[in-house]
Amino acid sequence: MKRLITLFILGLTAAAHAAPDGALLYARNCAACHGADGRGGVGVPLALPDFLATASDDYLRRTIRLGRPGRVMPAFPHLSDAEVEAIVRHIRGFAPGVKPRALPAAPVRGDPERGAALYRRHCAACHGPNGEGGKGTGVTFSRPRDLPIIAPALNNPGFLAAASDAQIKATLMWGRKGTPMPSFLEQGLTERDIDDVVAFVRGFERQPRQRRSELKDEPPVLIRESASDFATTVENVKQAAVGQNFRLIRVQRLEDGLFPPGEVSRSETIVYFCNFRFLYEALAVDPRVGLFLPCRVTVVEREGKVLVMAINPTRLAALFNNEELDEMCERMRGIYEAILEEGTL
Ligand code: HEC
Ligand code: HEC
Repeated sequence: MKRLITLFILGLTAAAHAAPDGALLYARNCAACHGADGRGGVGVPLALPDFLATASDDYLRRTIRLGRPGRVMPAFPHLSDAEVEAIVRHIRGFAPGVKPRALPAAPVRGDPERGAALYRRHCAACHGPNGEGGKGTGVTFSRPRDLPIIAPALNNPGFLAAASDAQIKATLMWGRKGTPMPSFLEQGLTERDIDDVVAFVRGFERQPRQRRSELKDEPPVLIRESASDFATTVENVKQAAVGQNFRLIRVQRLEDGLFPPGEVSRSETIVYFCNFRFLYEALAVDPRVGLFLPCRVTVVEREGKVLVMAINPTRLAALFNNEELDEMCERMRGIYEAILEEGTL
């Protein structure tokens, strides 16, 4: 009896330490986007032999850990190493006969300037002029005339940190059968051309970081002093917003509710406005923009000065790590500047 109990306890301990279940973890964390069988969906296919032949285990591990910031692919920092490993084994199981090629570890040497010209000619149409990737992600079901699989972002910090030069090179040399990504040896490029393109793609690594630190130097608020009195300035701001194709939503005097009527000690008015087309466009890029919408401009009078202020959208962009949104924030900043300019004349 005692021996039986010992065996039972040993059995329990073994179960507790059993390797994590890759199929289950994949089903929970990945299948919704990449498909139960790895054939793709919102995420790109993972089961294709050409993909699994060039993607190293390290690439898969890093991609799971880092995700693709600003794209749909999430990061999974909370999984244990053993869990990540189990998922990698499960993905390998999609094509059991396919072993990843042994690729050289050395960086590829090429001429990025020559690569830039080749990139413009051969890659930009699908991957975007700055490697930002195609609009949307994964496999398209709804738009039959578009590519069946959306080209991933190549300027993405998650991709660049996960992929070795040799892997990018191998992808260009051989392409991925079953996807729109062609073999560029078959397209007539030489190996030297391909090295130059790899050097150019690697150069994307430096651009987004520089840009993010520039964004952090931006002032948080845009402020202008008005040449007119308070009431005229509020009217001017309203007209300027309408002139920029916005619809006024409401005009709120901040003292409302804060001070008893008639005992207002200072003037402060917020003009709220919105452009619904822009709003939907921005929300589609990143739902977090909802945090600072609708648009608003504040007019205050303090010590005889009338000031007009708006949040600086470019500074907000630094919070989001999404390059498509950077462009929108840049556009929005231009619009705010125009409204402040007109409103303070
Ligand atoms: C919310 C959807 C979503 C989920 C969940 C998701 N992915 Fe992805 N994944 C994507 C998209 C979309 C891409 C393509 C990135 C792009 O378009 O830039 C991608 C890319 C990848 C890539 C790179 C493929 C390539 O061709 O290089 C790998 C590997 C990957 N995902 C693995 C996983 C694994 C493993 C999980 C689960 C742990 C997972 N993904 C969960 C959407 C998702
Ligand atoms: C006709 C459109 C098209 C062209 C042209 C094209 N690609 Fe692709 N590329 C794709 C698609 C789609 C994928 C995703 C394939 C998949 O799902 O496995 C891809 C995948 C890739 C990948 C792997 C990305 C990842 O996340 O694993 C790299 C690297 C790449 N392409 C680089 C290039 C470069 C560099 C060029 C030009 C020399 C180029 N591509 C030209 C459509 C294209």
